[in-house]
Amino acid sequence: MIDSDELDDKFGIEGEVGFMEMDGELVFINVSNKYADADICLYGAHVTSFRPVRTMEMLWMSSESNYEEGKAIRGGIPVCFPWFGPHKTDSSLPQHGFARLMYWDVLATKSLPNGETQVDLILKSSEETRKYWPYDFEAVMHLTIGTTLTVTLDVKNTSAESFEYGCALHSYFFISDIAHIGIEGLKGLSYLNQLTGETGKQDEDVLQISEPLTRHYQNTETPVAIADEGFRRRITIEKAGSKVTTVWNPAEEACAGMGDMPDDGFANFVCVEATASFDYMITVAPGESFQTSQVFGVEE
Ligand code: BG6
Repeated sequence: MIDSDELDDKFGIEGEVGFMEMDGELVFINVSNKYADADICLYGAHVTSFRPVRTMEMLWMSSESNYEEGKAIRGGIPVCFPWFGPHKTDSSLPQHGFARLMYWDVLATKSLPNGETQVDLILKSSEETRKYWPYDFEAVMHLTIGTTLTVTLDVKNTSAESFEYGCALHSYFFISDIAHIGIEGLKGLSYLNQLTGETGKQDEDVLQISEPLTRHYQNTETPVAIADEGFRRRITIEKAGSKVTTVWNPAEEACAGMGDMPDDGFANFVCVEATASFDYMITVAPGESFQTSQVFGVEE
């Protein structure tokens, strides 16, 4: 059992970083500085809230999310590792890997000279992780909370051999209505349509979503923005170390079939994910590291 008081003694920063148990189960880190507030759950190194001052919440969280061991949190920024989607050869293994189903340790918390806050969480290979994946690794989530939120998954290979992995920073953004947003930055990109298995190329300047959509845009690192008329804001999303941008919204029917989402939940989120998947997996030599990151900002 992780003790939030002990964590507070070791990693708390007066008025800026605190630890809290929810329902006596999962432990959260609360960050508050002059730029923003954020909540991060140690289970999965999962950011569940990011709210720059004087603006609205940027991330969507399901009001019916599970917060218990063995179940993924629905919303926020799930960290998928060391594979994205179903496991390639063994469908009994957890969808999106095991990292979102494990407790991460706190490595460090820091108040940066510019007033931002940094939180680093770590997941190391163990007997438990080796049940799912045979390699040794150290995965660190670096989170920097300022006017923007920067999330970086830094994976070090501590095995004696090279390994290949997939991952995703599977961010859920809070939007006024799926019918009132447009996603910019995807024009001209080729994508795999997961729902039909076909490939396509986006001709439209702006992606508008009016039906179930799961597109994996290939070989792209370009920035994307969600223009939200209803909330009168643009969420900007930059990324590095990921060649696939996944856009997902389940729409009404599939949403109603998901036990951890309200029936109308689909209307208020869209996922724009930085992934390493399909032909764009990541290979890391022994002793080397690789970083995948996203930077989220808001323009009003
Ligand atoms: C998306 C996938 O990235 O994640 C979808 O493309 C999937 O197919 C979605 O439904 C949510 O996954 P999960 O495992 O969190 O329900």
